[in-house]
Amino acid sequence: MNNATSRTSHRTEIIGEALPRLIEGENFVNDFLARPVNASDRDWVKSFVRSHWGSEIIVAKGRVIRAAELDGFAVFKGKNPVGLVTYRIEGRDCEIVTIDSTAQGEGIGTALIDAVKEEAKAKGCRRLGLITTNDNLSALGFYQKRGFRLIALYPNAIEASRKLKPQIPMKAANGIPIRDELELELELSG
Ligand SMILES: CC(C)(COP(=O)(O)OP(=O)(O)OC[C@H]1O[C@@H](n2cnc3c(N)ncnc32)[C@H](O)[C@@H]1OP(=O)(O)O)[C@@H](O)C(=O)NCCC(=O)NCCS
Repeated sequence: MNNATSRTSHRTEIIGEALPRLIEGENFVNDFLARPVNASDRDWVKSFVRSHWGSEIIVAKGRVIRAAELDGFAVFKGKNPVGLVTYRIEGRDCEIVTIDSTAQGEGIGTALIDAVKEEAKAKGCRRLGLITTNDNLSALGFYQKRGFRLIALYPNAIEASRKLKPQIPMKAANGIPIRDELELELELSG
């Protein structure tokens, strides 16, 4: 990953004595605990996805995906979930389906990306990909600063997505019409 992860503020700190013992897959980043979601998380994962995406259904590249049924990582502040990434692995490709942080600019999104990136590498993936939309300027910056590159534009793809998911608004909160899908990928090595 690029410059952002090399900043000390994103350093993974494993703090031994003051914190509960880590179990496999858990990681403390700053004050946050990142860990894989498990069966006991399903209820809050469903409502988290619903509240951030307007429905449990995600539509990308014409496919309907139920994000809450996928593998994922969650970030907790104390006992409260403050971030969630869901993903799926097919062969050597790992695709991020949703990524959401409830407190932006505190390192939660970076912790989520790092968790899924490490998992994808451990599973032998060569690529970490995702789809976003033309209006999402902050996410486009966030991903590119973390090494993702734009690899495809699907003009007007959201028109078809709206037929599958009518909850997709016509305009984003920043006033930009939501029209196109953009595909980004990060090559994984080592
Ligand atoms: C995109 C998204 C997941 C990023 O999550 P985030 O929690 O804000 O991400 P981070 O806090 O790790 O990074 C955001 C910025 O805060 C900075 N930051 C991180 N930790 C920080 C800290 N402790 N102090 C100050 N700044 C910090 C980062 O350096 C980063 O800036 P940069 O991108 O210029 O490098 C989040 O904005 C989000 O949920 N957006 C809405 C949903 C969405 O659009 N999802 C993507 C759909 S494709």
